[in-house]
Amino acid sequence: MTATEATAATAEPLSSPRAYVGESEGALREIYERRAVRAYTDQSVTRENVELLLDAAVHAPSAVNSQPWAFVVLQDRELLARYAESGTELLRIDPPGIEVVQSGLPDLDRLRQMASGADFKLFHGAPTLIVIYARRIEGLPDCFLAAQSLGLGTCPIGMAIPLFNRAEVKAELTIPPDWSAALPIVVGWPAGETAPSHRHPALIAAWR
Ligand SMILES: Cc1cc2nc3c(=O)[nH]c(=O)nc-3n(C[C@H](O)[C@H](O)[C@H](O)COP(=O)(O)O)c2cc1C
Repeated sequence: MTATEATAATAEPLSSPRAYVGESEGALREIYERRAVRAYTDQSVTRENVELLLDAAVHAPSAVNSQPWAFVVLQDRELLARYAESGTELLRIDPPGIEVVQSGLPDLDRLRQMASGADFKLFHGAPTLIVIYARRIEGLPDCFLAAQSLGLGTCPIGMAIPLFNRAEVKAELTIPPDWSAALPIVVGWPAGETAPSHRHPALIAAWR
């Protein structure tokens, strides 16, 4: 098979993966049942909850076990509201500022359009925001794996990365200037069920 043909090949969906997952327990089931949760109750997330999540997060793998992450936990309602407002404002500025351009966010035009909507809520009203910082730039991918380890209702908020890379926000949170915001994640108790989102079958580019 040529590289081009291989790129075009997609895996046939397994005959009944759902049936298999339905009977399984543990990680496989968690993977299929995880959702980006965008509606939360007012119930607060306790210190014990957060500590458990962070302990799970640091069990993610990292290159040469470098564990390059650091966490900022934000639960102060007024601070969250202020950051939601300034993070949204940052996305709306035209032309986009340097933090937005350098954020690596895909489909920036669409995200900026979403942020301009009247009822846009950057943090989805969640009571807790955990920002994962990478202490070294090469640590970024490892921090995404750490995020994956979090439980409870969560939603990654890539759209807030520019905000947490702003010099004044880092200074306010006492974050060293050379750390990079890898991924902010809201955490809370889900208000109701979240429908699963669509997945394409795995694209197998090569199998030799
Ligand atoms: C790196 C990353 C950044 C994301 N940023 C946002 C965001 O800013 N706002 C949001 O509502 N969802 C965000 N999401 C959630 C995705 O939209 C969601 O994972 C995707 O639509 C698939 O849905 P699912 O997680 O429920 O399967 C982000 C996800 C990832 C992995």
